[in-house]
Amino acid sequence: MALFRRGAKAGEAPSENLPRHIAIIMDGNGRWAKKRGLPRTAGHAAGAETFRRVATYCKDIGIEYLTVYAFSTENWKRPKEEIDAIMSLLEQYLGESIEKMERDGIRLRFLGDTSILSPRLRGLIRETDAITEHIKGFQANVCLNYGGRDELLRAARLWAEKVRDGAENTPDEAEFSSLLWSAGLPDPELLIRPGGELRLSNFLLWQCAYAEFYFTDTLWPDFDARELDRAIEAYQKRQRRFGGL
Ligand code: IPE
Ligand code: IPE
Ligand code: MG
Repeated sequence: MALFRRGAKAGEAPSENLPRHIAIIMDGNGRWAKKRGLPRTAGHAAGAETFRRVATYCKDIGIEYLTVYAFSTENWKRPKEEIDAIMSLLEQYLGESIEKMERDGIRLRFLGDTSILSPRLRGLIRETDAITEHIKGFQANVCLNYGGRDELLRAARLWAEKVRDGAENTPDEAEFSSLLWSAGLPDPELLIRPGGELRLSNFLLWQCAYAEFYFTDTLWPDFDARELDRAIEAYQKRQRRFGGL
């Protein structure tokens, strides 16, 4: 924690031209644990702590939104024991965090189909939503049972329902965006993937159309404020053209 606080003050990255919204694929937990001869679940526990610290750091330096990939629609392919361990870590994390969120001024939101999660987890998510609803300022979005394709299909289905109910126009980008889990959020300007893989793994396919990508071999549990500063600095050096000149 002290390191992060120091990082916040040292603030290597210039504070002007900060991204409003940073997205992170929190990858590398299993390999981090394996390197230490620990079970993969120990990596997920360490990863949850990293999320806590990185979210606090983002808030401290003035980022408005942080969106993290916590569990994908494809992660159900993993062994049941690992899935159960991840879900109970999430329960533990939310149980511990609920009372701190208001004090820390962190609004927590969930993106993805949470309807199939355990009743306990759904209860905690509802509680979190209710507690953090009025928090203004920094917002952390946790993508849980989230998949970019799933999100787009769901939006298309929702639009088909509107047509069935009599809508006559076709959606423009803004209307379509409003049917995604990320409704109301600005697109992330910066997408960070630790863990060494160079792919999106079905994350924010629509929203990252013009995001700047930053990849690092650092495994997520080792990711820290300095690494985030480096990613922001890299972003600040990019020339964003959006198809123009
Ligand atoms: C990311 O870490 C967390 C989840 C996908 C739930 P991994 O579990 O994918 O860790 P590695 O990539 O196997 O090291
Ligand atoms: C992406 O990591 C999903 C999350 C971090 C939640 P994965 O480890 O599941 O991605 P792949 O399998 O390497 O593409
Ligand atoms: Mg992985």
